Amino acid sequence: MNLFDVYPVNPINIVRGQGSLVYDNHDKEYLDMYGGHAVISIGHTHPHYVKRLEDQLHQLGFYSNSIEIPIQKELATKLGKVSGKDDYQLFMCNSGAEANENALKLASFYNGKKKAIAFRKAFHGRTSLAVAVTDNPKIVAPINETDNVIFLPWADETALEQAFADHGNEISSVIIEGIQGVGGIQVAPESFLQKIRSLCDQHNAVFIADSVQCGYGRTGKFFSQDFAGVNADIYSMAKGMGNGFPVGGIIISPKIQPAYGMLGTTFGGNHLACAAGLAVLEVMEQDNLMQNAATIGEYLIKELNKLEQVKEVRGRGLMIGIELPEELSNARKDLLFKHHIFTGEAKPNVVRLLPALNLTKAHADRFLEAFVNVLNQ
Ligand SMILES: Cc1ncc(COP(=O)(O)O)c(C=O)c1O
Repeated sequence: MNLFDVYPVNPINIVRGQGSLVYDNHDKEYLDMYGGHAVISIGHTHPHYVKRLEDQLHQLGFYSNSIEIPIQKELATKLGKVSGKDDYQLFMCNSGAEANENALKLASFYNGKKKAIAFRKAFHGRTSLAVAVTDNPKIVAPINETDNVIFLPWADETALEQAFADHGNEISSVIIEGIQGVGGIQVAPESFLQKIRSLCDQHNAVFIADSVQCGYGRTGKFFSQDFAGVNADIYSMAKGMGNGFPVGGIIISPKIQPAYGMLGTTFGGNHLACAAGLAVLEVMEQDNLMQNAATIGEYLIKELNKLEQVKEVRGRGLMIGIELPEELSNARKDLLFKHHIFTGEAKPNVVRLLPALNLTKAHADRFLEAFVNVLNQ
């Protein structure tokens, strides 16, 4: 049987990893400044993570949500503490798309309304509602098409006010990434997030903060939307939540009440997933990783801003976009094949950095040195 060929892949076979370093089948070392799409939050094969998963696997790998799962409650308590949202409620699933799917559905159950507002260049995932609020017609199949989504220009307060003025009583939710990732690392202005909060309050709409890529401590605060000093009603999470184990979830404001059967999943919140989630939060807390993300991120952004070939540096903490001019469109390939450094991309010609939150200064310097080399060759 062949694989269904949907991914353009690099001819590299990574077989092991430790911290921010990974190694191929010829034992060649690579610096991982991308964490496999922002997933590796506490570093590859962190010893505490490996042990926690191993211990859990020897106890019980899985049982469904038809029994008490104390480790799920333990994770919710820890997540409430580390995120500072301890009055929120946790619903667990397995991926970012599923988290957004559940968030949009829950919003509609809550207020009985049908329309969602999303933003140009947004990426929210590939399941039916998540892809419907994603601004990329190429990944929207005819069966996913809907009139229930209103796309607005990014960070345009006037357009947002107008949409609420025109459709206020139909708008169920507004979904926004605190920092657009796939869209090129665009930081949502704080005033824009505050405007969403007040319009949602006025019109009984639900504010959904897609934190799948920009959340989980990556920016130096637990949720990047926290910089605006307002709370969303639902935060969606995945990626860094499980450091590679597929874990996703939404946290839900106390104003939204649950009912049996409203949401559900077979795998979400299973014992192994919760062990992975707890290991991540324990390491984040113990090793002060949000602070490290803020410090090393600030250092990288400061140094990158000194490079005259760079058009613009955007982002916060360890979520950084470096926009380059057209003539440097080979930079990512050169970083990978000449300097053995993984980075991500976004259009137009943006190098995306999404490394583990415990990236060291030495590794940041190794990246900077190689990057300067690539720009000057
Ligand atoms: C902001 C954002 N939301 C949702 C998703 C979808 O997550 P998943 O691929 O886990 O379904 C992604 C994935 O890149 C993302 O970046």
